Amino acid sequence: MKRIIFALLCVLAFIGVEAQTNGERTIITLEDNWKFSKGDIAEAQQVDFNDRKWETVTVPHDWAIYGPFDKEIDKQTVRITQNMEKKATEKYGRTGALPHIGTAWYRKTFTAPAYKKGKEALLVFDGAMSQAQVYVNGQRVGERPYGYSYFYFNISEYLKEGEENTLAVRLHNDPYSSRWYPGAGIYRKVQLIVKDEVSFKQWGTFITTPYITNDVAKVNVKSAVQGDNLSIETEIVDARGKIWATKKSSERYGNEIEFDVALPKPSLWSPEAPNLYYANLKLYQGDELKDVQRIQFGVRTIKYSAEKGFELNGKVTKFKGVCLHHDLGPIGAAINVSALRRQLVILKDMGCNAIRSAHNMPSMEQLELCDEMGFLFLAESFDEWAKPKVENGYNRFFDEWAEADVVNLVRATRNHPCIVMWSSGNEVPDQHGSIGVKRAKWLQDIFHREDPTRPVTVGMDQVKAVMESGFGSITDVPGLNYRVHLYEEAYDKFPQGFLLGSETASTISSRGVYKFPLEFTNMKRYKDGQCCSYDFGRCNWSNVPDDDFVLQDDKDWVIGEFVWTGFDYLGEPTPYDRQWPSRSSYFGICDLGGLPKDRFYLYRSRWNTEDETLHLLPHWNWEGREGETTPVFAYTSYDSAELFVNGKSQGIRKKNKESNQTRYRLMWMDVKYEPGTIKVVAYDENGKAAAEKEINTAGKPHQIRLSADRETIKADGKELSYVTVSVLDKDGNLCPTANSQLNFKVKGAGSYRAACNGDATSLELFHNPSMKAFSGQLVVLVQAGTKPGDITLEVSCKGLIKNSCQIVAE
Ligand code: GAL
Repeated sequence: MKRIIFALLCVLAFIGVEAQTNGERTIITLEDNWKFSKGDIAEAQQVDFNDRKWETVTVPHDWAIYGPFDKEIDKQTVRITQNMEKKATEKYGRTGALPHIGTAWYRKTFTAPAYKKGKEALLVFDGAMSQAQVYVNGQRVGERPYGYSYFYFNISEYLKEGEENTLAVRLHNDPYSSRWYPGAGIYRKVQLIVKDEVSFKQWGTFITTPYITNDVAKVNVKSAVQGDNLSIETEIVDARGKIWATKKSSERYGNEIEFDVALPKPSLWSPEAPNLYYANLKLYQGDELKDVQRIQFGVRTIKYSAEKGFELNGKVTKFKGVCLHHDLGPIGAAINVSALRRQLVILKDMGCNAIRSAHNMPSMEQLELCDEMGFLFLAESFDEWAKPKVENGYNRFFDEWAEADVVNLVRATRNHPCIVMWSSGNEVPDQHGSIGVKRAKWLQDIFHREDPTRPVTVGMDQVKAVMESGFGSITDVPGLNYRVHLYEEAYDKFPQGFLLGSETASTISSRGVYKFPLEFTNMKRYKDGQCCSYDFGRCNWSNVPDDDFVLQDDKDWVIGEFVWTGFDYLGEPTPYDRQWPSRSSYFGICDLGGLPKDRFYLYRSRWNTEDETLHLLPHWNWEGREGETTPVFAYTSYDSAELFVNGKSQGIRKKNKESNQTRYRLMWMDVKYEPGTIKVVAYDENGKAAAEKEINTAGKPHQIRLSADRETIKADGKELSYVTVSVLDKDGNLCPTANSQLNFKVKGAGSYRAACNGDATSLELFHNPSMKAFSGQLVVLVQAGTKPGDITLEVSCKGLIKNSCQIVAE
């Protein structure tokens, strides 16, 4: 037996896969040694096709992120109606100006060690961008047009036992098919599952906790199974592996076995205490063990009501949420757990408690992390239904595929305690017209059928239309995108008794960039392609954060908000989609590399109720502006503060509820610039100095500082450490306007993966080991190799003292 296991491990190592096997079910993640080629190749699906010259890649993979950026890609003359544009204009960079359009093939040879006749083999894709056509051993096994959909095929009849098999996947992205950078390729994981024909059905188990007290939770397990004379043995364990309850049942209804397990003294799941349980399920046919499954779940209650809004575990909870597109900035759409985790660590520190996957199905990895780290999740499905926003968008597939896509979304993810709401769509043009109301109802009913425990929302921007048509009234959770001036009216007209800010703010800024004179702006464009970071800049349809805060604070019936967006993303460079170069968004609270903009601290000062926030802006390097008005703001959790310029008091400011403008920010509007030091002293409620912060005028760039978010990473060939690189003067002050050309060298047990400076106008490629600092900073991503050891990142720049940092891969 040992020999067989050893042989199996050798085979798996040889074919470069990650396998979990337990005798009854083998799961192989197809990661390494994929062959990849761009272009359409008529024979690529064939078994004996010669792909030796193709590039060897690892999946998840994004073929377009390596660029180059090009103004001509997806260039279009359009009128973006949802942006309230009156006429068509030429637009660039909407989809990131990266070469994602076209056809490409992936091929992989693999053996299926556990497969023999009578077994069932499933090939599971978490997502492939897009219009996937899948072939096994030259035979077509199926297709899936929507790039964000999870899907699987039963490939048993196509597999060869004990021999090499060939998997070929054709993907195709059309122009004008997305409103943002969709990525390109097999950007999420692919798994081969081999199990007995008598087994659990894929995504067939649903665990709910319909009754919860301090003493006991009723855990309901409903499992779709195939085969006769079956029973399920269950063990409920906590994250430490302690067994809390067991049960064996063969109670069967149709193709489902359903039973309840009493879980004593349940530890509830919440963002503050994300306690998790696991159901270890064993499927027996008679006495013979046939299949096993381990399912992560949590015990929690959710309730939405006119009386209290949203309650989690009986406690009124407001969504302090952000919307996130799926790309991970410099590494594109290819899923990476470290990158996702880092985003959540940053958001947690901000006090954020919720994520909306805009505008599509989230990755499994992101949901697992949200379960573990404690984030509420709004899982969305579509940006379009039957009516188009972009010519080749999902509208082409809606009628045929929408139900199947929703079914897979729900079945694959419904056990995640983090998901507290579904969304069937975002700002769909179908908000207009009576047929749209029917579509909304049809989709919502599918969600309800698949999951009766969670409500459904739609992000609605056509608020007048949905008030008229009934679209808003039939939606479980009415979600408003922007339109703060219509909240009261919608609340009155809709019967639900509460509203969600499903998308809010869309304030635009560039990290560390300030424009004078300071003014509230609407879609303002500057020559340098940047937006002002005083956070007074918005779009035609949007508003500044403060307008949402007022509603969140003053109206009990507003159940929270999802800010557009937590991080900048590739594509949609509003307001610069007519001014090249610009290829990524300005909406982020953090920039594309994940570095916080000033706005981060504005949200943190409200949302993070545990830690103090005291942040000062702008920077204080304004050579040439001596004597000119240079407003200073403090974003702080304290109520009042005093500002000093070179020791001279500029007065005390106190948050003032009477005015939206001064309610959340402390502002000194008349400060005259003089080089030196600005200092803010914050006062507590007794008027005592409680905290202070200073910014000095920096001298010339002199040295480099490196700071890694993780100094130890796993030697698994995937984990990343994000190193923030700052250009400093000789006294250690950040040089806030430095754009030094920095060079990166990684030695030892890891490699250089990418860099990102957050400058939306930069056309430097992320994977090249050299990049300009933007506002004095950037991040470098260092990737672990597969062997333990030390990794050194060295950053150098002509004229500056170089520096290095150590990361350990273990
Ligand atoms: C919304 C839309 C988002 C994004 C945003 C920018 O209307 O739902 O996808 O385009 O505007 O402000």
